[in-house]
Amino acid sequence: MKVLVLNGPNLNRLGTREPSVYGSTSYSELVGRCEREGAALGLEVDVRQTNHEGELVEWLHEAADAGRPVVLNAGAWTHYSVAVRDAASQLAAPVLELHISNVHKRESFRQHSVLSDIVTGVIAGLGVDGYLLALRWMAEHGEQ
Ligand code: DQA
Repeated sequence: MKVLVLNGPNLNRLGTREPSVYGSTSYSELVGRCEREGAALGLEVDVRQTNHEGELVEWLHEAADAGRPVVLNAGAWTHYSVAVRDAASQLAAPVLELHISNVHKRESFRQHSVLSDIVTGVIAGLGVDGYLLALRWMAEHGEQ
């Protein structure tokens, strides 16, 4: 099974971006950790990042057409992008909303997600380990 791990804006800056909030793991280290975890779980993992909303929308269309499960850290778009919500709503396979930080104990604008009510589940606040947990869940449930 192939799982798409899709990351939105600023997540390429992991490691240098507000390390007290997002930790010191770089984006390339995150990609490596996801790929290794995926290999151990027997998954093919395709990790991508974009700073362009339309590109994320198109990747979600691709996932919808291919019936692929998605781990989605939409970054700031989580909080306001109806376009990302509408694209994620087309996924038939499971989709997990993921946040490295615990958005519920941050600014009030981060406490609202336009995605949470249309996704399968949400992981927040577990640092980059959340991606590995999401992949473990996908290995068990991704084909439902
Ligand atoms: C984030 C939380 C968002 O509020 C923020 O805009 C991000 C990252 C997280 O992983 O904690 O870019 O999704």
